[in-house]
Amino acid sequence: MGVDFSKTMIEAAEAIFSKQGIRAQFVNSDIMEYQPVQQYDMVISQALLRHVDNAKAFLRKMISFVKAEGLLVNMECNREFEEDGLYIRGMEYDALCQHEGLSKLWKTELERQNRDYSIAMKVPHYMKELGLRNVACRMNDKVTFLEPEQPEYIESLDSIVRADHWSEEKSEQEIEEDIAYFMNHGMSRKEAEDYCRKQNGIIEYLKKNAGKTSLTKTNGYMISYGWK
Ligand SMILES: C[S@@+](CC[C@H](N)C(=O)[O-])C[C@H]1O[C@@H](n2cnc3c(N)ncnc32)[C@H](O)[C@@H]1O
Repeated sequence: MGVDFSKTMIEAAEAIFSKQGIRAQFVNSDIMEYQPVQQYDMVISQALLRHVDNAKAFLRKMISFVKAEGLLVNMECNREFEEDGLYIRGMEYDALCQHEGLSKLWKTELERQNRDYSIAMKVPHYMKELGLRNVACRMNDKVTFLEPEQPEYIESLDSIVRADHWSEEKSEQEIEEDIAYFMNHGMSRKEAEDYCRKQNGIIEYLKKNAGKTSLTKTNGYMISYGWK
């Protein structure tokens, strides 16, 4: 059983499961309003809590879906780690990691709307506070090392490009709109420009080196879990 309030995400999940031949049911609903007909042995959320403004309330709600003695698992990346997790061969690692502007955006969004980009570090503490037992946390050790000789190179690169929105270079007008957005979320003009130019630089580089880019990428997902 999977729940998401985005119809597009539900359709994508249905397509993935059906391609793998796995039977599953998906519900298009707000998790906070969802009332399951039963409780489950294991409840998992992934990449959800850093998008919401009330992570603890979501955890409490998810705990209500778990059977007694059951397991709650949360997988979330800490944005700070994630920003250090990309090297594209031929580009400067140091420049790829720069994210002072983003740190200001994260701080601003935490103060203004309680959206927490470092939620991954706090989840085990919240789990404990909410009464789960034997709470622990591990790190997903997946690191993508991608290079052109690999048989699934094009497919894998494509999936990274789509996930990171690196498909299309932005026009000057789109960049200006992004800059205005970032400035409205705590960045200075220079930080917003630097961030947008960095993203466009990656897009340009990938385009110019199509079919021959090698990269290393890790999201540093943290896996927190505890028993009810
Ligand atoms: C970054 S996506 C992750 C999607 C998926 N869990 C995965 O790992 O691929 C975050 C998802 O959280 C969903 N979401 C955010 N708030 C939600 C809520 N209150 N109820 C249901 N889904 C929610 C969004 O629709 C979005 O699909």
